[in-house]
Amino acid sequence: MVSEARILIAPSVLSADFADLGRQVRAVTEAGADLIHVDVMDGVFVPAISFGEVVVDAIRANTDVPLNIHLMIQEPENLLSTFAKVATDQILVHAEACGHLHRTVAKIKNMGHQVGVAINPGTPISAVEDVLSMLDMVMVMSVNPGASGQSFIPNSLDKIRRLKGIIDQAKYNAQIEVDGGIKADATALDSIKAGATILVAGSAIFNKQETIPEAMKAMRGCIAGAF
Ligand code: DX5
Ligand code: ZN
Repeated sequence: MVSEARILIAPSVLSADFADLGRQVRAVTEAGADLIHVDVMDGVFVPAISFGEVVVDAIRANTDVPLNIHLMIQEPENLLSTFAKVATDQILVHAEACGHLHRTVAKIKNMGHQVGVAINPGTPISAVEDVLSMLDMVMVMSVNPGASGQSFIPNSLDKIRRLKGIIDQAKYNAQIEVDGGIKADATALDSIKAGATILVAGSAIFNKQETIPEAMKAMRGCIAGAF
């Protein structure tokens, strides 16, 4: 089991107040976000459209925390140079959205970014296995992508466990990231125990019930409970 300090919280700004985005990004930075998760949706790969590089650039201007860019875009290869211009640190593409996944992953690496591949709840691990050695992150979607505030799909835990087994056995470097329905409860705790080290959390961090520092503290407390 990894140490507590290695578990990273990546608040997803999709749940933030977009009329106050700069301030919310600064608040989550001050509250100790390890990464900032940025959901780009194209209205094709997923039904919704979120935002593009102009907003990513605005987020970048408000934080020094690495951006963890989740591209929910069909054939993201065509747009990589656009996102590269806004100095994104980590770029994740979907296995399901890439006609040539190996080439897209190699391209992101060659651009000097950290690279991750996400797989949907209905997508088997085999979809990512042959590029796993190239990855910094592999992201298990624990909801169907497209919206925040959905419930965690329980058999994501088994997928995380199986991925962890493959990564450990082959001594790959990929960290396991989990995205969707993560709260400061069993969903976070069990994901860590299964092998995830990066927790994406949208509505658990940006909500009306608690302040951002309170929500971050609750998530940190929950993580501590796993050790
Ligand atoms: C869903 C997005 C998630 C989302 C998570 O398609 O990829 O990153 O913002 O939101 P919560 O944590 O509320 O499920
Ligand atoms: Zn996401």
